[in-house]
Amino acid sequence: MIQQAARDFAQNELKPGVIERDEHQKFPAEQVKKLGELGFLGMMVSEKYNGSGLDALSYVLVMEELSKVDASSSVVVSVNNSLVCYGLESFGSEFQKEKYLKPLASGEKIGAFCLSEPEAGSDATSQQTTAEDKGDYYLLNGTKNWITNGNTASTYLVIAQTDRSLKHRGINAFIVEKGMEGFTIGPKENKMGIRGSDTHSLMFNDVKVPKENRIGEDGFGFKFAMKTLEGGRIGIAAQALGIAAGAYELALEYSKQRKSFGKAISDHQAIAFKLADMATTIEAARLLVYKAAWLKDQGLPYTLAGSMAKLYASKVAMDVTVEAVQIHGGYGFVKEYHVERMMRDAKITQIYEGTTEIQKMVISREILK
Ligand code: CAA
Ligand code: FAD
Repeated sequence: MIQQAARDFAQNELKPGVIERDEHQKFPAEQVKKLGELGFLGMMVSEKYNGSGLDALSYVLVMEELSKVDASSSVVVSVNNSLVCYGLESFGSEFQKEKYLKPLASGEKIGAFCLSEPEAGSDATSQQTTAEDKGDYYLLNGTKNWITNGNTASTYLVIAQTDRSLKHRGINAFIVEKGMEGFTIGPKENKMGIRGSDTHSLMFNDVKVPKENRIGEDGFGFKFAMKTLEGGRIGIAAQALGIAAGAYELALEYSKQRKSFGKAISDHQAIAFKLADMATTIEAARLLVYKAAWLKDQGLPYTLAGSMAKLYASKVAMDVTVEAVQIHGGYGFVKEYHVERMMRDAKITQIYEGTTEIQKMVISREILK
């Protein structure tokens, strides 16, 4: 039922205008509002905090369906659900859940997760943003890069270094509100893909963050980021799966209609075999994504499965979208057939929430430990 609701929403609400939003880098504001009304922005949050009280498997089904049509919209769903809401519900105080989680889970407000910096992407422990302990508040200074929902968000989870001598154990996570004095937002990035998504750098200049906005114990910030990203990676894996499945469905349909040398191009073995490879790898990616979500739902360790799902599904997204363009021939190269956008959108799934190389680092450490 949830999968069908997401499928209908993608066809009826996301598909119209998706090409124009990509072209003009327009944030899907109306669509995101409706996603909130459907309960898709706080899917795994308990009803007590205005969430839908669903499981991770339901969440990945929704991510897959939305991403088949519009990855710029699905990344908003991913960040709000699996980074921001999950982080707050799992590790936030009661005060933080009441004040910040509730409006985020209902979709009334949108959240952002701010770990990356100009000089700290994959190497996330080398945080340059500082949060100086001033007694009843922290003084935040620094710059965050590439922040999804950067301008649309109202609530920002910001990672910063409090005590450099303690290295990663001296890092904290804070809730920062839009409008706090000294907090400014840079211009929107002009991107290759997910162009509807709202990516900005953020600048903090002597921002006073109240002590009650620190998440968890002093020094918990890096673990907070890592634990939150473990689940986030399952969401991005589902996004990659959806992009691949969406491109495959379009290519399959097109191959049955397009004729060359007197028959449908799907009757040429070279095209049929491409479709066979696409279908097989998508199914394998799907099983990895569902398994990771299922493990999370069972309360079992899912670090390894989540990274494997993201590593593999993002590669499948890239491979399948390239072939989907190829199957469309020249038509695949123009915007109205959708697959060129999907090819551009697929690339980001190999970069954010830990690059392909970082997933291999996580996987190899897990299997060797
Ligand atoms: N759970 C809990 N703790 C963890 C952990 C996990 N999964 N992974 C690491 N840690 C802890 C370690 O135990 C260690 O703490 P202790 O010393 O107290 O035990 C500490 O973190 C440091 O761990 P490492 O020594 O393994 O750290 P490292 O410097 O080698 O880096 C890394 C590890 C996995 C490469 C990490 O830096 C990383 O994940 N980098 C990628 C960053 C990333 O994914 N960024 C995404 C930004 S958000 C985003 O992109 C959103 C979006 O696009 C939409
Ligand atoms: P680098 O870390 O400089 O990596 C460059 C290359 O070197 C990569 O290929 C990488 O895999 C490789 N590399 C680095 N270290 C190693 C190593 N030890 N071994 C092997 N290879 C290595 N961040 C957030 O915090 N919040 C967000 O909301 C967010 N949204 C984003 C949205 C977009 C559109 C983009 C582009 C990025 C977003 N990011 C966000 C940032 C993203 O997570 C980082 O770009 C990513 O983690 C990589 O960091 P980097 O760009 O600094 O690359």
